Amino acid sequence: MNAQILSGPAIAEEIKNELQPRIEALKAKGIIPSLTVILVGDDPASQVYVNNKHNTFIKMGLSSQVERFPSDLSEKALCQRIQALNQDPSVHGILVQLPLPKHINPQKVIATIDPNKDVDGFHVANAGALMIGQPKFIPCTPYGIMKMIEKTNVTVRGAEAVVIGASNIVGKPIALLLQAAGATVTICNSKTKDLAAHTKRADILVVAVGKPKMITGDMIKPNSVVIDVGINRGEDGKLCGDVDEETAKEVAGYITPVPGGVGVMTITMLLVNTIEAAEKTLTTF
Ligand code: GUN
Repeated sequence: MNAQILSGPAIAEEIKNELQPRIEALKAKGIIPSLTVILVGDDPASQVYVNNKHNTFIKMGLSSQVERFPSDLSEKALCQRIQALNQDPSVHGILVQLPLPKHINPQKVIATIDPNKDVDGFHVANAGALMIGQPKFIPCTPYGIMKMIEKTNVTVRGAEAVVIGASNIVGKPIALLLQAAGATVTICNSKTKDLAAHTKRADILVVAVGKPKMITGDMIKPNSVVIDVGINRGEDGKLCGDVDEETAKEVAGYITPVPGGVGVMTITMLLVNTIEAAEKTLTTF
């Protein structure tokens, strides 16, 4: 048996096509959705992610600015720049690329972003809104994962969902989204005893830990949906996920490949959130 491949680029293309009329409607009103990304330091992976985001926005006809700062930028200077962007009506979305250099407190920086421009959905106001079931901006990677799960024939309501990894960016929000959709959710971490006992009963398994090929086929429930959020460099130097694709696809019903899976969905949902931020500026109270 071979799992069906959940292709990130194919699903992203569908979502992008659906976004076109919304972009046109905004343009007709003189509004071009605009994102400003702040990148501090020279982390090579972050450079790649930021360039990919910028290129995607430009290709979609949206506005994107990348502001690059040296790694010795002070926390105060960064927060002052964010405050200026909060006040700038031509900027709809603000994203501070993580990780930040060690001397900068990421929570303090995220708290400075206007929640109405927090297209990452990381501000406590947006995290709290998600927790009480009234999401405003949903973090992009979990949002993209839900869109991928929608493409399967698996019913989330009543399903057993297991999430490995409890980060604020992926693990916790995807657990909340799956729970809101009616799944019974277990969140595992690096200390979980007998991890395989959990993963083997998962109808939906989301793996976001950053350990190359840690989930093997023998740990997976037959016909389940396996979502691999990891992007690692394997021993052979090739990109690989947290799931061992070769053995997992023999067992799973659906699987996201690495590369070609979740990665592109994160950027696509950033488009969605930025367009939404621009649309919200039109709402009058
Ligand atoms: N670093 C890794 N993933 C993300 C993300 O989704 N948003 C931001 N701001 N930084 C990241």
